[in-house]
Amino acid sequence: MKLNLKIWRQQDAKSKGKMTDYSLGGVEGDMSFLEMLDILNEQLINKGEEPVVFDHDCREGICGSCSLMINGEPHGPDRMVTTCQLHMRKFNDGDTIVIEPFRAKAFPVIKDLMVDRTSFDRIQQSGGYISVNTSGNTVDANAIPINKHAADEAMDAATCIGCGACVAACKNASAMLFTSAKVSQFALLPQGQVEATERVQNMVRQMDLEGFGNCTNTGACEIECPKGISLENIARLNREYYSANLKG
Ligand code: SF4
Ligand code: FES
Repeated sequence: MKLNLKIWRQQDAKSKGKMTDYSLGGVEGDMSFLEMLDILNEQLINKGEEPVVFDHDCREGICGSCSLMINGEPHGPDRMVTTCQLHMRKFNDGDTIVIEPFRAKAFPVIKDLMVDRTSFDRIQQSGGYISVNTSGNTVDANAIPINKHAADEAMDAATCIGCGACVAACKNASAMLFTSAKVSQFALLPQGQVEATERVQNMVRQMDLEGFGNCTNTGACEIECPKGISLENIARLNREYYSANLKG
């Protein structure tokens, strides 16, 4: 395949970026999207030009770092896959593909297609954990029986990889789906009850401080999430938040 690529190039957070056109031949359907970008970068380096900067780590849909907006959709046109799992067979010879970074005030561009998502880390650090005594008398994990339905729902919430596609898909750049997944994975389990009140209050406070927008129930986040995180988690987050505030 021969493709026309329109790629966002930006030197750093302070510089003005612009779309740049590239023509790339020899693309095979079995290549992943990131392999296609590797080929482009190889050609740019051979020509003495700066390669396109993009984030990636595992290339297996696990780490959540491959944040690309492809033809206006986070992680591209396929459902339930990350950019590294997207294959070029989804495109046709002669296609024009527009590639941009995830755009949100709380995700400033570092360079080209790479954005700073440490705002997610700070939300997680503000309460997305349980405190466990590991000084030699740790309670066995199976000592507390967990209802199967709750265990399944908690596991589903825990599959969030923190990629940020939900924020990029949302017209308000809301981080509610991410935060709700991180709250839900503990709210559904007895182990999460001890710190439940402070957890939800602190995580929502940090989410607002980072400059993410509000949820207006558009649902784009759920559609674009590569891990199928459900909007039900946002409803749970709201319930947790209201009951925490009633407790004080
Ligand atoms: S909720 Fe989905 S889209 Fe949002 S960060 Fe988690 S995995 Fe990514
Ligand atoms: S590179 Fe890890 S999820 Fe894509």
